[in-house]
Amino acid sequence: MALDFRSLLADHIPDGGRGARPRRGKYDFAVAYPDPVSLPHDKIMECLSEALSETGDDLAVYPHPQGNTPLREYVAEKIKRERDINATADDIILGNGSGQPIDMISAILVNPGDVVITDEWVYGGTLNTLRRHSADIRGVSSDEEGMDPEALDFEIAKAVQEGKRPKYVYLIATFQNPQGFTITKRRREQLLEVTHRHGVPILEDDCYADNRYGGEQVTSMYNLDDQNSVMYVGSFSKIIAPGMSLGYMTGPDDVLDRAMTVKSGRISEFTAMAVEKFARRYLDAHVEEINSIQRVKRDAMLASLGENFGTGAEWSDPDGGLYIWMKLNDDADMVSLSAKALEEIDVGFHPGTNYSPDGASGRSYIRLCYGYNQPEEIEEGIGKLGDFLAKEGALQS
Ligand SMILES: Cc1ncc(COP(=O)(O)O)c(C=O)c1O
Repeated sequence: MALDFRSLLADHIPDGGRGARPRRGKYDFAVAYPDPVSLPHDKIMECLSEALSETGDDLAVYPHPQGNTPLREYVAEKIKRERDINATADDIILGNGSGQPIDMISAILVNPGDVVITDEWVYGGTLNTLRRHSADIRGVSSDEEGMDPEALDFEIAKAVQEGKRPKYVYLIATFQNPQGFTITKRRREQLLEVTHRHGVPILEDDCYADNRYGGEQVTSMYNLDDQNSVMYVGSFSKIIAPGMSLGYMTGPDDVLDRAMTVKSGRISEFTAMAVEKFARRYLDAHVEEINSIQRVKRDAMLASLGENFGTGAEWSDPDGGLYIWMKLNDDADMVSLSAKALEEIDVGFHPGTNYSPDGASGRSYIRLCYGYNQPEEIEEGIGKLGDFLAKEGALQS
């Protein structure tokens, strides 16, 4: 008789299964992809080829457990220069994206039922990670300056009263996904005052810090913290490509030491060698180039939204990042309409429920990414989407 593995599953393993990769629309506004046309294939090939001839023999041995040392040295220099973070290569752990460090941090801090605080609308990948760790996720509202410190204070105090001091507050302080705001310096300080007072750490996810097309850069929360209470993650996904699968973390010594105990898998030395050389030689110029490309795409999407949606919806106007957050009419069910739009007009987007801690709120919201398609396609796709949503009665009157 065949063994039934379902009876053997560990607690807290979510339902799920294999399946095809979700279908992508011709107008793919669903995922925060970088621009495909400016991917620097030739330069990466050049760097990979040089790296292999210089240090290729190192591939014969298992890499450093924290990941390729020269790349960790580069990351330490980059975050010092751009985010005012003092770290050495020893203080950096590479991950196969920034998702892996977020998972490692959650694994060492979160017991089932522990409270973790996020924004009211927040990146679904982190929500899924927290769900896997059976966290009790509580959302806090924000305004254009970022998370509301009084609401945060209230939410932490409430959890403490229940005997569940939050394990951390998750903040995407620069170009919040999906809402697009950057937390102002004043607000960062206010939020830190609240978390310090309650003895709760912050996980700062800074993976969009380089994707800025306007406005002023704000220093990292890590830099503003003087109580060793901020953990920091970053990524190469949005400035080179998700396919490179490279991210990183730094933080207090205890966090880094314990994170290594739950780290699984290895970071590809092969990829890291190429990325380190590419980053030192070309990354600054590449970021400048992709930002000027993305600025044009953002403007194309904003202009077509103005033309096609008029007063039928409200949407964000971000200075960077890769997405626009939109509110349709209160009764619109964007969960079913996202499936229907993909089917009928080949336009992909995510419904707001993907970004809500309870997984159910946000049916009348959507996130639209402008990173992947070219400006003409964006205009075409937004035109189709406007007509479709008007026909479906999803626009505000
Ligand atoms: C806010 C945020 N954090 C982390 C990630 C994960 O990125 P990575 O590819 O580095 O794992 C994403 C990807 O979209 C993101 O939007």
